[in-house]
Amino acid sequence: MTQSATLAGAFDELADSYDHRHHEEIARVLIAWVAPGAADAVADVACGAGAVARQLARSRPETAPPVLAVDLSPGMVAVGRARAAARVPDTAIDWRVADAVPLPVAGHSLDVVLCASSLHFLGSRALADWRRALRPGGRVGFTLPLATHFRPSERFSGLLARDVPLPHTAREASRWATACGFTEADSRVQVLGTRRVVVTSATSPDGR
Ligand SMILES: C[S@@+](CC[C@H](N)C(=O)[O-])C[C@H]1O[C@@H](n2cnc3c(N)ncnc32)[C@H](O)[C@@H]1O
Repeated sequence: MTQSATLAGAFDELADSYDHRHHEEIARVLIAWVAPGAADAVADVACGAGAVARQLARSRPETAPPVLAVDLSPGMVAVGRARAAARVPDTAIDWRVADAVPLPVAGHSLDVVLCASSLHFLGSRALADWRRALRPGGRVGFTLPLATHFRPSERFSGLLARDVPLPHTAREASRWATACGFTEADSRVQVLGTRRVVVTSATSPDGR
């Protein structure tokens, strides 16, 4: 079985018992940290049940482009669609079941890329793809678990990308984003009950 199929299967099994409350809170923090504009072209990368896409879609004008929401797991996307129904217009989110790397968009076509709790599954190749997909000066926002507070099950440990260093501090997360080619990286640690996440925003370089 491929790594993608294994990941999709693992998250399909988790879909019905997913901790939505925790991930809705992370989405709220991430959106507030990056603050996308009302008409921005935005992708929710490895969206799962689309906490980020749904929250954003609720706050945008009807004329805004649909939020692109991509995830490998059909089960997670089905839960997201169900949770969006009746709360968000059908056209406000463009759901896709697919590998999110590369994103199914033209180069330099996005204003903002958001990725909540997923980059440590995608691997650092995702950051290179976001630089391709973002317009110069576009914004990226991602969250990662704080290394000292991350307790994945054995099953999920085996699915983690080896080339994404989980940060011990906000500064470490910003340094990594900068080392991956972004500018103006800014991170902070967010306490959520007994859990801790690092939320980072950064800018795609303008190529000058
Ligand atoms: C912990 S969940 C986070 C989901 C969502 N972003 C949230 O905040 O609730 C990680 C998600 O990453 C997805 N995923 C992992 N690797 C992926 C890939 N290469 N392409 C698309 N989705 C992927 C999984 O299917 C899962 O839904």
